[in-house]
Amino acid sequence: MSDILAGKVVVVTGAASGIGRAIAVAAARHGAKGVIVADLTETPREGGEPTVGEIETLGVPARFVATDVTRRTDADALVDAAGEFGGVDVMVCNAGITLSADGADVAEADYHRLMAVNLDGVLFGAQAAARQMKARATPGSIVLMASMGGLVGAGFTVAYSTSKGGTILMAKSLADALGPDGIRVNAVCPGTIDTHLLRSTPDIAQAADGFRQRTPLRRLGQPSEIGDAVAYLGSDLSSYVTGTALVVDGGLTSVI
Ligand SMILES: NC(=O)c1ccc[n+]([C@@H]2O[C@H](COP(=O)([O-])OP(=O)(O)OC[C@H]3O[C@@H](n4cnc5c(N)ncnc54)[C@H](O)[C@@H]3O)[C@@H](O)[C@H]2O)c1
Repeated sequence: MSDILAGKVVVVTGAASGIGRAIAVAAARHGAKGVIVADLTETPREGGEPTVGEIETLGVPARFVATDVTRRTDADALVDAAGEFGGVDVMVCNAGITLSADGADVAEADYHRLMAVNLDGVLFGAQAAARQMKARATPGSIVLMASMGGLVGAGFTVAYSTSKGGTILMAKSLADALGPDGIRVNAVCPGTIDTHLLRSTPDIAQAADGFRQRTPLRRLGQPSEIGDAVAYLGSDLSSYVTGTALVVDGGLTSVI
């Protein structure tokens, strides 16, 4: 489709399903040299190995690396695995979860479980990638998956929106910390994207049709549309873009 990621090794967390899977496949479509597919186990939902298979069909080498992003040692091992292809150039910290019972009374255990994935896991991945990029003295791009839920709040996403708002400021802060080393850090804020996460979270699934009707483009987004946005941020086309939150929501958060 394009060669904007030519010569680059791309690592994607949460890549066995939904948006992460689409980002990994889009990386291959945009000419990546190698793709590391990271997720909890080998076969959640669509599955890590099928994602690898789809990427290899495009003629791009890929590996599945079982990774729990909440464990710093896993994040370090994941980035080390990219050494097989020459080292990470684009790190996409995408893995994230919602809660079936979010809101003002969110349970303490659920709150901590969500923060562990959506904030700790994102930071550990970014840290691991940045360390390797600095050690190789190679400028790189780190993309953190936020959400429109990090820009606007909702009563049924108190914990989730808190985590995604934090992700946006994590990107801005890391952009400042890592910019002198030539490392860019940006966040992506998807709107309503048609994935398992959307369909399986009752309050979000219920709200989805209303979101679709209010979205200026009058449709849900497709995971591949997030994949293309991430490919742009990973590529040299965005060489002067850092610390930004790229909103990919069909216009939903632009209107009331
Ligand atoms: N679908 C949407 O409408 C939407 C909108 C805005 C933002 N997002 C964000 O996009 C990202 C992907 O969402 P999705 O819709 O593809 O969801 P999804 O549930 O389809 O995929 C998420 C993936 O993350 C993995 N994961 C969960 N916990 C993990 C952990 N501890 N370690 C490693 N992997 C783990 C899951 O196994 C799954 O494969 C999330 O960060 C989500 O918050 C989604």
